[in-house]
Amino acid sequence: MSLSPERSDLASPKAKTAGKARTPLLAGNWKMCKTIPEALSLVDELKASCSGLPDREILVCPPATSLESVSRAVRGSFLRLGAQNLHWESEGAFTGEISGRMLASIGCAYVIVGHSERRQYFSETDAVVQKKIHAAYREGLVPILCVGETLEEREKGLASDVAARQIRQGLSGLGPENFSKLVVAYEPVWAIGTGRTASPAQAQEIHAVIRGLLSELYGGKAADGTRLLYGGSIKPDNIDSLMAQPDIDGGLVGGASLKAPDFARIVKYESR
Ligand code: 13P
Repeated sequence: MSLSPERSDLASPKAKTAGKARTPLLAGNWKMCKTIPEALSLVDELKASCSGLPDREILVCPPATSLESVSRAVRGSFLRLGAQNLHWESEGAFTGEISGRMLASIGCAYVIVGHSERRQYFSETDAVVQKKIHAAYREGLVPILCVGETLEEREKGLASDVAARQIRQGLSGLGPENFSKLVVAYEPVWAIGTGRTASPAQAQEIHAVIRGLLSELYGGKAADGTRLLYGGSIKPDNIDSLMAQPDIDGGLVGGASLKAPDFARIVKYESR
């Protein structure tokens, strides 16, 4: 059975909110957390606590084992479904891997690509990330390309260079026609799971660099339409100031997305 994603309108950045011309996207990356019953109970809580926000898009990215159950649970609701990883081939002898084709067939609309934990612990290079980005488009999934520097790189003044390299290489060979559906997440490695969030100004600075680079590579229209998420220790008490930045269009949330009240507060951010 094919569970095709609903609300495909939301993947295109047309709606307006809070003065930005891009639909804000608040995404929970559950990483390697939650069994199927735990995942279903979190989804129930999110359905109850995050409803009634038609101007923003809310996405959950459970681990692969829960994807199909969560897909059924979110069907017809405002919650959208994404995976955390994919293989670059559609099928074949790749023991333990999952393809974009499989993810699309169970209703995933999005897939996270190149998360720093995959780069760090599973040796994903920019070349691998690039193949995965192409695979996501081929299978009709919206890729969320993750970029971001380590603490050492930031201290050497290389934060912008690292993001630029990861974007240039990750998107290499991609035509501008794909841009209406690209999402980029800036996640400084030193801010992930550490409680040390980038300041709104630090995050905005790199987001502006990323948008400038996308404009250089694919034109101003494509760059203006691309949603750029911040990720790294997002919490209920820092989301408002992050979302107030002109180039921050949403968040990729780890730890705080595992608790419904915290994620609900994040989703209900108020930017002034
Ligand atoms: P934390 O929100 O737990 O820092 O994780 C961020 C992240 O890696 C999201 O992909």
